[in-house]
Amino acid sequence: MTDLKTIAEILKEAQIGSEMTIRGWVRTKRDSKNVVFININDGSTIHSIQVVADPTQFNEQLLHDINTGAGVAVKGILIASQGSGQAVELTAKEINLYGKADPNEFPLQPKKHSLEFLREIAHLRPRTNTFGAILRVRHALAFAIHKYFNDKGFYYLNTPIITGSDAEGAGEMFRVTTLDAQNPPLTEEGKIDYKQDFFGQETNLTVSGQLEGELGALALGKIYTFGPTFRAENSNTARHLAEFWMIEPEMAFYQLKDNMDLAEDFLKYLIQYAMQNCADELVFLEKRLLDEEKQLANEERAPMALREKLQFIIDNPFKRLTYTEAIDVLLNSKAHKKGKFKFPVEWGIDLQSEHERYLVEKEFKAPVILTNYPKDIKAFYMKQNEDGKTVGAMDVLFPGIGEIIGGSERESDYDKLLQRIEELNINKETIWWYLETRKFGSVPHSGFGLGFERLALFVTGMRNIRDVIPFPRTPKSAKF
Ligand code: 4AD
Ligand code: MG
Repeated sequence: MTDLKTIAEILKEAQIGSEMTIRGWVRTKRDSKNVVFININDGSTIHSIQVVADPTQFNEQLLHDINTGAGVAVKGILIASQGSGQAVELTAKEINLYGKADPNEFPLQPKKHSLEFLREIAHLRPRTNTFGAILRVRHALAFAIHKYFNDKGFYYLNTPIITGSDAEGAGEMFRVTTLDAQNPPLTEEGKIDYKQDFFGQETNLTVSGQLEGELGALALGKIYTFGPTFRAENSNTARHLAEFWMIEPEMAFYQLKDNMDLAEDFLKYLIQYAMQNCADELVFLEKRLLDEEKQLANEERAPMALREKLQFIIDNPFKRLTYTEAIDVLLNSKAHKKGKFKFPVEWGIDLQSEHERYLVEKEFKAPVILTNYPKDIKAFYMKQNEDGKTVGAMDVLFPGIGEIIGGSERESDYDKLLQRIEELNINKETIWWYLETRKFGSVPHSGFGLGFERLALFVTGMRNIRDVIPFPRTPKSAKF
């Protein structure tokens, strides 16, 4: 085992008087006459350690080259801090400069940079306090997801990334091909001949692991997937990515109510886990948000501070109502009567973000689970209700985010499913295997998809989804 220690470990142990080495990147350097202060962060925690160096003990050029961004190792004695703002500091005995960072070139100077600018330097932004905090929260949430499901007897199932089917039926897929784009082989009718493509058929990047997830649930009982998902929808919003991560649990024998109970419990658990395990990060992110909001008009500011908002979600039941009830609420709202909604409200519409946010933020002031949507605005696999008009869908709507989870009970009746597939002109040949599960031992089952970055947005209080994934992919942007 190595004896390298991270700053997180050193701060935890706080062995005052001991000799130790810290390794990391210089955040700031401050010279005064008799002493040089160097702040070092290694990414293991939001906290930096201040190194105190006596300039007469070190080579002048070495001290000159230690600038913001430089990679260093400092050996010294850990002492209780003389100054305010930190508990311990390190008196330097030896300094090793691994790599310089020329202050005329290094773009991350110790001043406030805009989030837009930081997106342009996504290769370096993890070295800021903000992105360090976000990435650690993201890690904690990912770990908590696996822990939650493992503790509850779910099995982690890896579903394919390359697929021949369109799970959501929305046709927003990225093609995967090795055919020559300039000169593809053609069929006799003059169409591209995918039989000659790598897989001998048309293939795409998956938009969801659900269909294969169902195969797993109908064998293992309870499964979940957690993987990358791709959507070629041209929506340049602060809540959409072309590549995002989705968690999709799927459970045999669960009906809609069980599905809702699981979704609510799961979200509360994850938020609680972040509160307990990312306390320092959340304090920092809360302050960041308050600072940012100072520039906003009153009505654009969040009604609660970040941690208060997270606690509120944990402590309060989600409001559950049907789509039809929600449309009534919207129709009877002052906002509607005064013509404040941009998009029309009537039974059958796909709810717009303004409608979802009205329900969550104005009407109920709590997360909302909407169920039983019109079948025409939902995917083919959802359980058809007796009324012939609606399906057993459920969307979880969160304040400031809108839809964070989408799911449903699944249609388990072979004939009804086939009929819906035919009505929607879905290519049966690409999902014959899916249909077979309804032929051989079909049972009721349900599941949902949680957008990982939407959750990360909510927990970190960031406003743009590009800022909660290390390297965002959006229309016209796949740098890094
Ligand atoms: O509602 P969606 O499209 O549902 C499905 O894909 C189902 N197959 C899930 C299931 O039942 N197993 O997507 C689920 C969630 C959304 O609620 C949202 O949080 C997120 O995935 N999501 C996106 N996140 C970021 N960028 C996008 N373009 C997203 N599209 C969906
Ligand atoms: Mg959805």
